[in-house]
Amino acid sequence: MPELMIKEQTLIYLDYHATTPTDPRVAEKVLASMTSQFGNASSTDHVFGDKAAAAVSQAAQHLAQLVGASPKEIIFTSGATESINLAIQGTIAASHDSLPRIAISPVEHQAVLDTCKALEKRRRAEIIYLRVDSQGRLDLNHLEQTCRDGVSLLCVMAANNEIGNIYPIEKIGRIAQNHNIPFLCDGSQAVGKIPINVAEWGITYLAVSGHKFYAPQGVGALVVKRGYTLEPILFGGGHQKGLRSGTLNLPGIVGLGEACRWRQLEMVQDESAIAAKRDRLQAQLAEKIPELIINGDINSRLAGNLHISIPGIPNSAIIARVRGKLAISRGSACSSGVEAPSHVLRAMNLPEDVIEGALRIGIGKFTTEAEIDQAADILASTVKDISRLLAEN
Ligand SMILES: Cc1ncc(COP(=O)(O)O)c(C=O)c1O
Repeated sequence: MPELMIKEQTLIYLDYHATTPTDPRVAEKVLASMTSQFGNASSTDHVFGDKAAAAVSQAAQHLAQLVGASPKEIIFTSGATESINLAIQGTIAASHDSLPRIAISPVEHQAVLDTCKALEKRRRAEIIYLRVDSQGRLDLNHLEQTCRDGVSLLCVMAANNEIGNIYPIEKIGRIAQNHNIPFLCDGSQAVGKIPINVAEWGITYLAVSGHKFYAPQGVGALVVKRGYTLEPILFGGGHQKGLRSGTLNLPGIVGLGEACRWRQLEMVQDESAIAAKRDRLQAQLAEKIPELIINGDINSRLAGNLHISIPGIPNSAIIARVRGKLAISRGSACSSGVEAPSHVLRAMNLPEDVIEGALRIGIGKFTTEAEIDQAADILASTVKDISRLLAEN
């Protein structure tokens, strides 16, 4: 699976952090909800509406079960970006603090960083940056001190979209709870890959993105723990308890729910197979490219993540040569198309040549061993070619 034929050559997809292909079993349900089982979940006057509402409630149950929440705590959105905006802007709008302070990790996704920066620019909030080390690990003592000093919201992702680090969310949630601080956890890269438990881990808001775990793009959710108040950012028909107006995206929601159901059943087994493939690729690359550096926390990272640098070999040179054969990336998928050095690697204070040589490889459930072996050969021979060229000049 997913094979895209480009000029009769098979392109290998290794960018699962950017997006995943939709699981065909999920796509089947999505299609049915668009054709035969369609309806507006708010149409209370006929059976089409009733069935759509029942499908939404079933999807909420599947998601709730996967992340240890109650179905009543789920708000469906267009994706994690919207969920994050709702949690952050909604918290600040509901806050009684004169200048609310938001503590964030510097390696958060742009959706968190830019939402906070926009609020800061409008003088609606002050940002407090947490500290990370050269492996992107959070300084938990500093986090606890920051919470003790008092903040209105704490934002820490469950797993990083570039280096793949898995953060100790249970510990962080306990700290937030001890200091009575609402805690937004961006679960985009983690949900469906590692266990998450909203009820037991002290998470107040959990952002979820469907297309990171084999559901379609453009659907996500925000889990809002009971008892917490948010102001809406979208107004209209008062859907979803007035927190997110707009006709529910039935096909997307059905897909999200079905993907959650499969993740619940297959996550452990899939992730261990994915880790074995990642380790195989890492071992082959380390053998073929002696200068290879692995970035991030190798003791606590996502099974499908391999973040490497080859100092002295610019990542752009590699990408330019492999793009017809291999889909890997320099960092997070960027909507503006502007090339900027990764803020994650900058926050980790890595040397310039390590940042310039950084490549993110994302392995998923449809990656085959044959693709892994081919990818290792393609990367190694490309690095050799570039090294030779650089040595000649
Ligand atoms: C960690 C993280 N947060 C948030 C997002 C945004 O998710 P969405 O594409 O659903 O808006 C992404 C997607 O790249 C992500 O990786």
